[in-house]
Amino acid sequence: MFHWQAEFELGITSIDNQHKKLIEIGNRINELLEYQDDEDDYNQILEVLEELKSYTDYHFKTEEELFLKYNYPEFHLHKKEHDNFIRYIDSIDVDSYEEDKTLFIRDLLQKIINWIFHHIITSDYMYKDYLVRLGAK
Ligand SMILES: [Fe+2]
Ligand SMILES: [Fe+2]
Repeated sequence: MFHWQAEFELGITSIDNQHKKLIEIGNRINELLEYQDDEDDYNQILEVLEELKSYTDYHFKTEEELFLKYNYPEFHLHKKEHDNFIRYIDSIDVDSYEEDKTLFIRDLLQKIINWIFHHIITSDYMYKDYLVRLGAK
């Protein structure tokens, strides 16, 4: 179970809520570790991956729109990190799920949770003061 931590808080409510939702999706993937061998587990992993992808996409667009609106100077660097993560999600080979379900989920979780947590406390944290000062909410 992954928990929201005070250090993730940027003070921009819309973004903080979206980050919470991303962690919630991570927890849904985590729960799948318990439900393996359900007949339905393959569909569940497909479903949650689809949600991860579309929500991540939505979240990144929200941040990037704020960057453009407020002329954030690090826009391109930050967007590059987002694009790389989307590329990673696109590259996940769902077919390998059946080979070793536990390994697949553990590996997936490790990558996405590490990435999300790291990205929030480093790259997202860097725009915090800039955007808050200009009135982003
Ligand atoms: Fe973010
Ligand atoms: Fe970001």
